[in-house]
Amino acid sequence: MLRSDGDPELRVFDPTTRILHWLTLLLVITIFVLAFSIDFASSKAEAIILIQLHRSFGVTVWTATLGRLVWRQFARFPNWPADMPPIMRLAAQLSEYALYALLLTQPVLGLLWTNAYGDRADIFFLGRLPALIGRDRAFARRLGEAHATVGYLLLGMIALHASAALYHHFWRRDDTLRAMLPQGRRRRDAQLGADESQRLSQR
Ligand code: HEM
Ligand code: HEM
Repeated sequence: MLRSDGDPELRVFDPTTRILHWLTLLLVITIFVLAFSIDFASSKAEAIILIQLHRSFGVTVWTATLGRLVWRQFARFPNWPADMPPIMRLAAQLSEYALYALLLTQPVLGLLWTNAYGDRADIFFLGRLPALIGRDRAFARRLGEAHATVGYLLLGMIALHASAALYHHFWRRDDTLRAMLPQGRRRRDAQLGADESQRLSQR
């Protein structure tokens, strides 16, 4: 990924990056809500539907994350705010890589866990994915623990990441969050338009 330090004007992420970013957030919220609803299901049939939906959205977010990583190779990302210290840039970059790593690891753990206790993921009730490993009760227990741990790690990283975004917006008052908002470009264009008409009216 290229931070376009050579182009100080570029202060928004491209539309594809922004769409995939907020789509990921929606998917992740859905996945956690489904995971925590399973224990409250009123029947076994309802629990199965919730689990299969959890698995389906989990596989979807894995695919979307791969898509994001591919897209990043072609995208030009906005430059960092000029007054952002190198250590903060490094922390931002490392936490973003950590989010990618967790989003890719977690669905694989979930899939292996499902297979290890003898089940298969039915993707949106359209068809079952083949099992990657055979039934293994002891391994299933360990995979279940790993899936829960990585799930909470992911929640923690997301909380840190969102707090950092809000810190940039409300404390440092830079345009980090605006650069990622869905209407980022419109806002910037509106600002550029306003600056231009002000410049013309001063002539
Ligand atoms: C980023 C994607 C995912 C996240 C964040 C996630 C998160 C979670 C969380 C937090 C739990 C509850 C853990 C606990 O407290 O015991 C859970 C349960 C579970 N997850 Fe995932 N998961 C993801 C993807 C998947 C995938 C792709 C599969 C399988 C294909 C899967 C299979 C399961 C299963 C079988 C359970 C146990 C449900 C139950 O019986 O209570 N997960 N997941
Ligand atoms: C599931 C939750 C989230 C995940 C997995 C996530 C992941 C990421 C990743 C990987 C990036 C790097 C850019 C990219 O590759 O597309 C990023 C950037 C960003 N995210 Fe999130 N994000 C999440 C939620 C949020 C939330 C809730 C906010 C706002 C409150 C937010 C604000 C931002 C901002 C402002 C950037 C740009 C930071 C920069 O300039 O490097 N994100 N996010």
